[in-house]
Amino acid sequence: MRILLVSSEAVPFAKTGGLADVATGLAKALASDGHEVVLALPCYRRHIPEEGRGEKIGQVEVQMRMKRVRADILETTLPDTSLRVWLVDQSNYFDRASLYVEGGFDYADNSERFLFFSRAVLHAARNLYFLPHIIHANDWQTGAIPAIVKEKLRDTEDFRGVGTVFTIHNMAFHGAFPPWDLELTGLPQKLFNWRQMEFYGQLNLLKTGISFADMVTTVSPTYAREICRPEFGCGLDAVLAECGERLVGILNGVDMDAWNPELDPLIPQKYSSDRLQPGKAACKATLQSELGLNVSPKSLLFGMVTRLTDQKGLDLISARIENLLEADTQFAFLGTGDEGYEKLLRELEQRYPGRISATIGFNEKLAHRIEAGSDAYLMPSRFEPCGLNQQYSLLYGTIPIVHATGGLADSVTEATPENLANGTGNGFAFQRYDADAFLNACWRAVGMYQFRQDDWQRMQQIGMTRDWSWNRSGRDYMAVYEQALTRVKSTT
Ligand code: ADP
Ligand code: GLC
Repeated sequence: MRILLVSSEAVPFAKTGGLADVATGLAKALASDGHEVVLALPCYRRHIPEEGRGEKIGQVEVQMRMKRVRADILETTLPDTSLRVWLVDQSNYFDRASLYVEGGFDYADNSERFLFFSRAVLHAARNLYFLPHIIHANDWQTGAIPAIVKEKLRDTEDFRGVGTVFTIHNMAFHGAFPPWDLELTGLPQKLFNWRQMEFYGQLNLLKTGISFADMVTTVSPTYAREICRPEFGCGLDAVLAECGERLVGILNGVDMDAWNPELDPLIPQKYSSDRLQPGKAACKATLQSELGLNVSPKSLLFGMVTRLTDQKGLDLISARIENLLEADTQFAFLGTGDEGYEKLLRELEQRYPGRISATIGFNEKLAHRIEAGSDAYLMPSRFEPCGLNQQYSLLYGTIPIVHATGGLADSVTEATPENLANGTGNGFAFQRYDADAFLNACWRAVGMYQFRQDDWQRMQQIGMTRDWSWNRSGRDYMAVYEQALTRVKSTT
């Protein structure tokens, strides 16, 4: 099958969160199954060095309101693979310090930037004769693609029969813009209605993707059910509930070339489930010393690597971290995001030297070192569509402590005695989003770490030996692509 995978970020080119890992991981899984894949993303000039941009293979021109805007299409390959990557190079839109936000504010022209990107990719597919069977769009940045395909392109010879899949990575980001931005999509006014592109008077690109795609997926089975309810649907629950079988949840896989303690070049000593020690202990000691924490093998070191937003449960952590410091514990935080949370973490670090470390910023190497060097990993997210760090933690023998929601519920199972015996218990999970429920889960971890090391090691083994790779999820996406094609056939 020929698949055009369109994403606003992908490692190693540009990343703000899990979408980047997923776009690349999925593309690689599909390609290694023998499918012909092109991964398309914007050429963020300040993130992608010139030598990594490949060469120009074509040019496109898109009518954006009164102007015709040009972009070069550059083609490179994903490092160490032959997988084709298209970079849409338009410096007015993509030569910026960040991907979406600067100084706490979204770029004012985000709708224009990403609608241009979406349309440019479709032009490129046609101009360069990469005529896909499936176009797979991700999140609001590419939400207009299913609509353009359905309303405009499918009537053309080149795109007849092409199926679209739209994946929701996070319902919290709608891509909502003033109604006059509809013009930037090139689509007719009649589509600006409450069943298709409009939401509370605005153009809503997330809703657009959901409404027009042949199949809609999200990144875990539990989140697929949750978002059909008002508590998680961010206002679009009814639209999602109406999707019925058109909506499918598929748990993200892990790119085992990037996140594998046996191969990881970014950690000080490699280890595996068969030979956890001395590697894991060495990673912990190095991390403690690099971060200025007391180098103490017995202290339970909690790690956390995250975007600092309300989603991630930092309110629970800040409410109970001082209780947890009464035990022999330490904390290593790495994150960037809301100013309030950055300040909170900096203050905690100052107040508890040797016990709490807070690194504010985006640091891939440290992210790997925290995964490897910590004993436990905090992920008490209020909601979590999938979550990758709990899966990375499981693979690194680092015990996740999670709120049982979305993909966290689908990957972490409480380590009760029964679950340890039946080989499923791999972490600690609390059900109600509440500071005391969170604290209790942490105490269960502290108790086991201090007094039941055999159970702790069993739990590490359970997490490390399950298959978290893209093998299964890649196959699930293929099934969804087939369903999308069947739907197109039945409607044309
Ligand atoms: P989300 O996409 O909601 O941010 P995920 O758990 O799916 O959450 O993925 C987050 C990804 O981003 C992980 O690969 C994580 O290691 C990475 N990440 C988040 N914040 C940072 C940071 N400050 N430095 C390095 N990597 C980070
Ligand atoms: C989003 C979600 C996260 C998910 C990631 C990749 O950013 O917040 O839970 O893992 O997308 O799908």
